[in-house]
Amino acid sequence: MTVKDNIKALIIGGGGFVGGYLASYLHSECKWEVNITKMKNETIDCVFAEIFDADILNIESIKKVINDVRPKYIFHLAAQSSVFSSWKNPALTIDVNVKGTINVLDAVRNIDGYEPKILLIGSGEEYGHIKENETPINEENVLRPGNIYAATKAMQNFIGKIYSEAYNMNIIMVRAFNHIGPGQASNFVVSDFCRQIAEIEKGLRENVIKVGNLSAIRDFTDVRDVVRAYSMIIQKGKPGNVYNVGSGKAISIEDILNIIIKISGADVNIEVDENKLRPVDIKIIEADISKLVEATDWQRKYELKDTISDTLDFWRKMV
Ligand code: GDD
Repeated sequence: MTVKDNIKALIIGGGGFVGGYLASYLHSECKWEVNITKMKNETIDCVFAEIFDADILNIESIKKVINDVRPKYIFHLAAQSSVFSSWKNPALTIDVNVKGTINVLDAVRNIDGYEPKILLIGSGEEYGHIKENETPINEENVLRPGNIYAATKAMQNFIGKIYSEAYNMNIIMVRAFNHIGPGQASNFVVSDFCRQIAEIEKGLRENVIKVGNLSAIRDFTDVRDVVRAYSMIIQKGKPGNVYNVGSGKAISIEDILNIIIKISGADVNIEVDENKLRPVDIKIIEADISKLVEATDWQRKYELKDTISDTLDFWRKMV
């Protein structure tokens, strides 16, 4: 396949769930040359991309890759992305999400005469304790993070804005709301429930599904729609700006569970597992996506039910 105008993209932290989808999209739809960094202990099965080992906590390693590739577009995906894990390991979350981001930005800043566009992936969790009249929430809203992960992503957002203004860098931020799809790790809710249901269907566990807080309300989008939004924002977004990426319509975790059970048809009992509850869990996080739509014309293509069904099928093959 020919690479369009030799546009080079670099995905930092491409070894995870979102990285694989983003790499495929940039290669097959944008026709860009795709480069990916991963951690040494990760494996990436991808024939079309150039793959580099680099750790964002080691600025020299990341600077070398960026300097060698000199991409036009940099997608910074590397993160400790689990809210739940951030309660267990706050220091690591701060290191990776805050210091790691500074290293990426400084690596770029220290290369003379080089001005790529950089997309920083933040989170809808940054908004935190959202007041009733603030939902669906827009980018101008005050941030009141309610957990360590959210605090690090809010910090990343502040740093991105500061660097973009102070050093005139082309940095754009997104606040991604919950994204889901086949291949996501089972520590995230939809994957977690689908995996348990697939195990129940196969008789690998008793017909009890263990759940956490079912009353939380979240805004879910298919990962394939999310990466399409990222590619549009990096091309059309304004430096120093932040864009929500979500569906615009939130749903309770209980309703998500009921959809999964209905698709499966399995006979299951629901049991709350205290270990899955969090010290704080924001009640509702729902995106106002008008800024994204206005800037890019993005619309979701995948219906929630179909994404859930694809995710269940994935786990049926895996267990
Ligand atoms: N994981 C999990 N497992 N979550 C559960 C469960 C369960 O059994 N039962 C209920 N929940 C609730 C959680 O308490 C939370 O309110 C919601 O389901 C979603 O949890 P996760 O899927 O773990 O995701 P998250 O919302 O904490 O974080 C995800 O979304 C953020 C954007 O809103 C991650 O993808 C983050 O990286 C992302 O920034």
